[in-house]
Amino acid sequence: MLVFATRNEGKLVELRELLTGIEVIDVSEAGRRIDHVIPDTVEDAETFAGNAIKKAREVSAVTGWPALADDSGLEVDALGGGPGVYSARYSGQGTEGNKAKLLAALEGVEASQRTARFRCVLALADVHGPLGAETITADGTCEGSILEAPRGTGGFGYDPLFLLLSGETMAEMDHATKNTVSHRGL
Ligand code: IMP
Repeated sequence: MLVFATRNEGKLVELRELLTGIEVIDVSEAGRRIDHVIPDTVEDAETFAGNAIKKAREVSAVTGWPALADDSGLEVDALGGGPGVYSARYSGQGTEGNKAKLLAALEGVEASQRTARFRCVLALADVHGPLGAETITADGTCEGSILEAPRGTGGFGYDPLFLLLSGETMAEMDHATKNTVSHRGL
């Protein structure tokens, strides 16, 4: 059994598709099983790896189980790599606000200058188990660009605005297909 250190339903659905054969529970379910409200990790690191390691270690320490954490986000070249680690909190108003702010920030920027990538770092910790002080990390990136208007109804977060080099947005593919090309799947 593995605790996925997230409350993001979109990430959870994708990870369960990737890790077939392993029971994956999220932080809320882990809290119910140990009868303890698990506090959210303060994501104050300046890198995806820093935040992922922090989340995995905190959740493993409090639950006693192995924990996997994902820290991920969108890097837009015209925005100097932003919103990056601030992707979830970009507008302070949730996913719809984030997408609106991104489109506004790129208004007037031509298609060739709208290049971007999703980046993901996964961290695995088992603080009270064999890994101890060690945390295993892996990272993946997925190149694409930002559309001027959303396309597709699948996925989560910035997916409807993220155009892959194949010509589809991440919101136009099912979870299994997204996992074959995405930063998280890689
Ligand atoms: P985190 O929970 O701090 O890692 O926040 C990651 C944020 O980046 C999410 O809330 C989304 O806004 C964005 N993000 C990460 N991965 C994806 C993805 O696969 N599709 C769309 N947005 C993503």
